[in-house]
Formats: sequence, C-alpha cells, structure tokens
Amino acid sequence: MTAQLSKKSEAWSARFSEPVSDLVKRYTASVFFDKRLAEFDIQGSLAHADMLAEQGIISRQDLQDIQRGMAQIQSEIAAGQFEWLLDLEDVHLNIEKRLTELVGDAGKRLHTGRSRNDQVATDIRLYLRDAIDDISGLLRELRLALTDLAEQHADTILPGFTHMQVAQPVTFGHHMLAYVEMFGRDAERMADCRKRVNRLPLGAAALAGTTFPIDRERVAATLGFDDVCRNSLDAVSDRDFAIEFCAAAALVMTHVSRMSEELVIWMSPRVGFIDIADRFCTGSSIMPQKKNPDVPELARGKTGRVNGHLIALLTLMKGQPLAYNKDNQEDKEPLFDTVDTVTDTLRIFADMARGITVRPEAMRAAAFQGYATATDLADYLVKKGLPFRDAHEAVAHAVRACVDRGCDLADLSLDDLRQFSNLVAEDVFHVLTLEGSVAARDHVGGTAPNQVRAAIARVRAELG
Ligand code: ARG
Repeated sequence: MTAQLSKKSEAWSARFSEPVSDLVKRYTASVFFDKRLAEFDIQGSLAHADMLAEQGIISRQDLQDIQRGMAQIQSEIAAGQFEWLLDLEDVHLNIEKRLTELVGDAGKRLHTGRSRNDQVATDIRLYLRDAIDDISGLLRELRLALTDLAEQHADTILPGFTHMQVAQPVTFGHHMLAYVEMFGRDAERMADCRKRVNRLPLGAAALAGTTFPIDRERVAATLGFDDVCRNSLDAVSDRDFAIEFCAAAALVMTHVSRMSEELVIWMSPRVGFIDIADRFCTGSSIMPQKKNPDVPELARGKTGRVNGHLIALLTLMKGQPLAYNKDNQEDKEPLFDTVDTVTDTLRIFADMARGITVRPEAMRAAAFQGYATATDLADYLVKKGLPFRDAHEAVAHAVRACVDRGCDLADLSLDDLRQFSNLVAEDVFHVLTLEGSVAARDHVGGTAPNQVRAAIARVRAELG
C-alpha cells in the first residue's frame, strides 16, 4: 500500500498507474535549461495572482501569501539555494511546488485560470523582450564605436574592392559607415520584432481560454505588454516571434561575420591595413611569433550556430498542428544560445572596434596597386565629350600600357596619355590622384570625406 502510494505520487496524478522511467523523465524534463526563465516566471505569476485577487477569484490573503512565498523563492534563487528537481520537470512546476511548500493552499490556487502552456509562452516573451532591449543597446554601442573610428579616418584612403580585386579608392570612414548602416537596419529589425514579442499570451490557458472572469488587459498592463494575444489557440502554440528574432539575430551575425572576414584579411601581415589590440588576439602554442585575430574568427564561426538555430526553430514549428505540442519545449535552447551568442559577440565587438589601429600608409600603398583611378580617367573623358563606352575603351588601352611598363596611370606623361585620347589635358593629373578620386564622389551615399562627415553627423543625431 505504501509502495503503491509512493509510486502514484511520482506519477502525474491519480490518472496514471505507473511513474515514467528515469530515462523518460530526463528526456522530457526541461528544468536544467528553462530555470533561467525563473525571474520571468515569477513576474508572470505575480501579475496573474494580482489579477485573480482583483477579480475576486482568489482572496487578498491568498495574494499576500503568494507574494510572500515568491519573495522567499526569489531570494533562494539569488543565493543559489533553490533546489531544482528533475522530478518536477520544468521551471514552472519547480517554483509552484516550492511556493506550495512555503505558503500552502494559496500556492495551489495560483494556477487557477492558467496553464503551463500560456505560462511558458508568457515567460519566453518576457525573457526575449529583455534580451532584445539588451541587444538593441549593444547595437547602438557598436554603431557609436564604428562611427568614432569613421570620424578619425574620414580622410584615410584605402582601395575599395569588387571580386577581391582593387576597384576604386574609398575612404576608410566610408567603409566603416557601411557597417554602421547594416547594424542600423539590424536595430530596426529588432525594434520591429519587439512589437510582436510584446503581447500577452496569459488568459489563453491550455488552448481554449478559461471559464474564470479574468482581466487580461490588467495582466498585460502590469507586465508592460502592449496588447494581449487575440486568439487563445495561436497564443499558446506559435513561436513565430522567436523565429523572427532568430532571423534578425542571424542577420546581425551575418554582418558581424562579414566584418570579421575583413578584419582577418586586413590584419594579415600580407595586407597590414590594421592591427587589433592584443586583448582580442591570442598566440600560438608552437609558433612564438604569431598573433592571431581569434575574436573575429570565432565570431565568423559562431554565425554558423546562430543560422542553425534559426533553421531548428523553423523546423520545430512546421509540422505542428494547433495548438500547443511538447515540441515547443525545444524552442528554448536554440533561443537562449542565440541570445547569448549575439549578446556576447556584440559586446566584444563594440569594445574591439575601439581597439583597432589603422595603418593609413599600408592602405595608401595598396590603393596604388591595381589602377584604382581608371574609372576617374574614363569619367574625365566623358566630361570632355567622349561617349562613356569609348572612354572605357581608351582607358583600357592606357591601363594595358601601364601593365606592360609596370607603372601607375598617374606615372604616365601628358603625351603618353594623349596617345589614348587627345581630349586629355593638364587638368587630368588631379583626377588621377587618390584624393581627387574620393573627393569627386560628393553626393549622398558617396565616399567623399565631406559626405562621410555629413553621414557621421546624421548617425550621431539619430543615436542621440
Ligand atoms: N516545459 C514546457 C515547455 O517548455 C512547459 C509547457 C508544458 N505544457 C504541457 N502541456 N506539457 O513548453
């Protein structure tokens, strides 16, 4: 009889005649990863209990007991003294069980008009809203750091590349501002995603709503949600808000990864455009001379796992019939790891951007390799009346001659240049300088130093 009773108590309820095996228990439990939702679970429960009391569904005394018990649980968790039990499956049941131990029946009444289905959806949204706010702040810091770097190097010239071949000279400030734009769109995506994250599922209960006279708007207001989810089935089942976040996060990492690729190339001694402060690099266990750009390399690598998490969540969702299914428990680890990876990466990059030393001489020397001002020469001829295609051809001949002689376009004499087009005059030499080339691209979005400065002013005004 005793054995029977204890067996039953390990199972879900009187509905079950035997407990799950240890393996199944471990397989189905989520407490070891979802316990990080504890603070949000408690926030959600307190808002729910407050509403239940306000509506007369539980007593004022019950509410006070719940508040007292939750305060105790919060301090136990903060002190690392809370005992998380695998037997209690997840964060929700662990906290509820402890609450009941501490305050008795009031703890058992907390779950009135609620299900773990709307509870967990609420917890994740609260968690993700916080994470989005952190990430948005970090994107801002990174943009500010890159903007500072752009300002220091508004006039520094490096070769711009297409196909990894020298294309046209650009300013380093302009190059940095390209990333400022990318991270700006990432911040917009985060802000937009936040709108859809910030809606309250509680009240949906298991899937169909509840028979109790609840006040969902009150709970939404207490928790700072902008609105309530409008359909109970949808509220407990869809995780599109998390998928959307992971997509935005994957784009953040994609931008970080592209930047990383450039930093790695630029720091190679073969290129030598930049140096990265020692605290972001490591050495080699065998080659004493090495200083490796580990941080950008790792960030490039970690982009893969974030992309993977996006696919994991999309795949998790695609086969689920309405409404809640246990599949959804698998949303957490990918989501948590995405948040951790993006947060750490942005924090490090915002710091690292301030630890980049630019080597303008190396950039300048590289800009002289590859006939970076050839387009300027063609444009010059067009301005003198030659159709662009003819100008393109004339300059191609000039470049060919330079390749044969092993010199730059600017090294050709006026007579040499006039062999390719008699429209060339003395004023051509300004056009062939790197400074002349970048300064001439003087329109919104162009690389001219004064456009870089104007763009910096716009970004600063936007970031406040
Ligand atoms: N641990 C579960 C999850 O993460 C909580 C919801 C469980 N609901 C249920 N009906 N089994 O999704």
